[in-house]
Amino acid sequence: MSSTATASAHANIALIKYWGNRDADLRLPVSGSISMNLGDLNTRTRVTFDSTLGGDTLTLNGQPQGGPGLERVRLLLERVRTLGGIEHFASVVSENNFPMGAGIASSAAAFAALSVAASAAAGLDLPERDLSRLARTGSGSACRSVPAGFVEWHPGTGHEDSYAVSIAPPDHWDLADCIAVVSAEHKATGSTQGHALASTSPLQQARVDAAPQRLEKCRAAIQQRVFAALAEVVELDSNLMHAVMMTSTPPLLYWHPPTIAIMHAVQRWRGQGIPACYTIDAGPNVHVLTEQSYAAEVERRLRKIQGVKDVLVAVPGGPARILP
Ligand code: PMV
Repeated sequence: MSSTATASAHANIALIKYWGNRDADLRLPVSGSISMNLGDLNTRTRVTFDSTLGGDTLTLNGQPQGGPGLERVRLLLERVRTLGGIEHFASVVSENNFPMGAGIASSAAAFAALSVAASAAAGLDLPERDLSRLARTGSGSACRSVPAGFVEWHPGTGHEDSYAVSIAPPDHWDLADCIAVVSAEHKATGSTQGHALASTSPLQQARVDAAPQRLEKCRAAIQQRVFAALAEVVELDSNLMHAVMMTSTPPLLYWHPPTIAIMHAVQRWRGQGIPACYTIDAGPNVHVLTEQSYAAEVERRLRKIQGVKDVLVAVPGGPARILP
């Protein structure tokens, strides 16, 4: 006996970052965050619960996986089995359309697609907020890849009320994310380990204390579509997160020389009247946000900077969804 479902989800870029957990097992964050789904970066995942399987299996871009990657998927499948009253193991087959090893975080899209596919294959018809909570337990930022467009994750007080909601649909604002790939290497310290170090930085408390004000500014900038206001708060928030990373014990320094060259260039371009701002996740690649009418020019300029290996361009994307 078997039951199967396929789902797809987009990666997302945090405009206001998530860094640090109150509860590491449930991935309950110390503060809220806001992101934009990246419409052109997708993960597609098929889940099949099958009575003939002797254990859960995971295939990623054609490669069978074991170890910690499989264990993380297994934990999420356990939650779905409990919710759906299912005893069978599952096979999970997942593919990314964006280059693997390009240093683009794939866990958000992966756990959002897995949550939607696994719950459907288990016969569950979960509302969006429950899918978002489920995805959060696999990778915190994955809860933001469940709803559409521009998304806010409310930190909540526990598992029940910590989930993400859409604050504006994808077509609300014609933004583009030009992702400058400067290193394709796998990062030395992943975000799960990184979250655990955040509280060792003397700067983390100040960052967390003022997060509500930054969230408010970012929400307003999105709602009113004011690029200059968005740029100011997005760069401030990214700099604050990296200041925490650099001052943790042990310190995390994700920037490479081209990362800093791009930061300077983006600020110079803004001075020349180009709407552009940078934000950087737990790696050396730089996301340069701009308006869609400037995306080709920003991409062209990024490609000229020494050390930029590739540029991916994405526009605001829709929700995680079941595929027919
Ligand atoms: O969801 P995680 O555990 O991969 O954490 C994501 C952390 C950042 O990408 C650095 C910030 C964010 O809010 O996405």
